[in-house]
Amino acid sequence: MFYEEGLIEEVRSRNDIVDVINGYVSLKKRGNSFVACCPFHHEKTPSFNVSRERQMYHCFGCGVGGNVFTFIMEHENLSFPEAVQMLAERAGVKLPEQGRPEEDRRQADIRMRIKEMNRMAAGYFHYLLKTDHGRTAMEYLKKRGLTDETIRQFGLGYSDKYRDDLYRHLRNKGCRDEELKLSGLIRYDEKQGASDQFWNRVMFPIIDVNNRVIGFGGRVMGDGKPKYINTQDTPVFDKSRNLYGLNLAKKSRREGIIFCEGYMDVISMHQAGFDNAVASLGTALTVGQVNLVKRYAEQVYLAYDSDDAGTKAALRALEIMKEFELPARVISLKPYKDPDELIQAEGREEMEKRIRDAVSGIMFEIGILASKHDQRDPQERTAFQREAAEKLSGIEDPLERGNYVTSVAEQYGIREEILREAVTRYGLAGTGRRVSAPAPRESGSGESRETKERRQLKAERLLITWMIRENALFDKLEGILTEDDFYEPVYHEIVSGLFAQYREEGRVEPAAIMDRFQSREEHEVVSGIMQQEFDMEITPEEKSKAVTDLVRSIRMKSIQHQLELAQGDLEKTGRLMLDKAGIGRLKIVFG
Ligand code: GTP
Ligand code: MN
Repeated sequence: MFYEEGLIEEVRSRNDIVDVINGYVSLKKRGNSFVACCPFHHEKTPSFNVSRERQMYHCFGCGVGGNVFTFIMEHENLSFPEAVQMLAERAGVKLPEQGRPEEDRRQADIRMRIKEMNRMAAGYFHYLLKTDHGRTAMEYLKKRGLTDETIRQFGLGYSDKYRDDLYRHLRNKGCRDEELKLSGLIRYDEKQGASDQFWNRVMFPIIDVNNRVIGFGGRVMGDGKPKYINTQDTPVFDKSRNLYGLNLAKKSRREGIIFCEGYMDVISMHQAGFDNAVASLGTALTVGQVNLVKRYAEQVYLAYDSDDAGTKAALRALEIMKEFELPARVISLKPYKDPDELIQAEGREEMEKRIRDAVSGIMFEIGILASKHDQRDPQERTAFQREAAEKLSGIEDPLERGNYVTSVAEQYGIREEILREAVTRYGLAGTGRRVSAPAPRESGSGESRETKERRQLKAERLLITWMIRENALFDKLEGILTEDDFYEPVYHEIVSGLFAQYREEGRVEPAAIMDRFQSREEHEVVSGIMQQEFDMEITPEEKSKAVTDLVRSIRMKSIQHQLELAQGDLEKTGRLMLDKAGIGRLKIVFG
């Protein structure tokens, strides 16, 4: 961070979050806060909340949140310093020029230039496609059934056969060698000098959610190898954090997002009206991509190729979806290879039907298990049923588990009571493969370590919420609890920020805590906590009891943790044992 903290704080406090956000979405007052439909994901009922009091926003639908800087960063796709600059300008705060190190400015400029050069290249490729030079390419696209409108919408183009055609074009437009070198568009060779990365290919510009051209895919016309060349990673092109077509899919009114494997699949899908289709960029699906999609959809569909490789990729994708708790359904394309082929052969109605008939991830996985065993052979059939029961036992929600048991029993002709019994037994034995590692049991308690940990984090989170609502707590916690009792690093950081603020100013300013955190994930966690509302219609006695319980449980966990670390240090252990014994006497009283 290269502005002084005080200056950043001034910029923040001079830009009221409600006014700033109101310039982007229209906010309606509701109770103590303002609401709108979330600008970061598609929704029909507003779950995007902005609090003037706390100067924070949070979406209960997709989980995004932060302070006024985060909002501008996300909405305008700016870096933190860029957001500070923009808001400083808005509020008329003067920023010192030399406060900004050269290197950062250079990087930002380079990123901007690369996007500009990409935009120029895309424009040039698109232009070429429509000239005589691009005739073969145009014929190829037409042969594959694309309309002029689709070609325009996706900005498709053609890279000429001459090895340095684009290079010369961009040089004429004033691009310099050293910046072209970084763009991924041009290759340099000691002997031959500069040449184009793409030549004689149909060009697919890759556009990010903010409508900037960040890279290209280029396909040979016909059967040559390699079939596709993609831009290598550049300062603006990160394959693992972008999706082809998401710039359009995010505006779709259709339900969910459909993942395909290829660029052509996405284009074909959109042309047929399925404008919620996206694809990864020539690599397997990544965690970053699922994270990205989670902002725009509550449900995803997989329309992966129907061959072995596609099935494998789908199974892997389902694993990631599960980790991110994103419900996924799998679309069967058989007997066609991919969505494009299905649409060409059968039309949009059939695709619509396939989407309606898509099966949930778990039914798809069980289907794969079934196909690996000969169902007529009793031994094989048992093996299959066992694997299916194990899979089912991993579903945490008992209602959902019950429903799947019924469906699987019916579909594979297993007696329901028997399947249910097997599922229960595997579940108890802990052999069910849960999303996270099977939970080891702790002695003397029926609760798994995992559940305990989750409960602990919840206690920490709740106490922070209380601290923000009831500043009086800071004095009451004096000598009882410090930030070091908080186990989760993010919570530790929040609490130490809150304590510091309270000590220095006698009150807390949640939005200022935000700037201690850098990553988007952290901002989401922090804003989630700070925006938490709860029922305040409780008596002081109830309040005292609730907070006392939280404090005791957090303190207990913290002492136990320190005890584990203090092994061998008798003096320390003794002191901790005394502390532990005294926990029952800790009391927080609200009058
Ligand atoms: P068509 O064969 O024209 O229908 O293209 P497709 O988009 O259906 O491609 P395919 O299903 O063969 O591959 C899926 C995706 O994998 C493509 O869109 C590319 O992103 C990527 N891909 C395919 N072939 C290559 C290759 O040779 N090199 C690289 N880097 N990526 C490839
Ligand atoms: Mn294809």
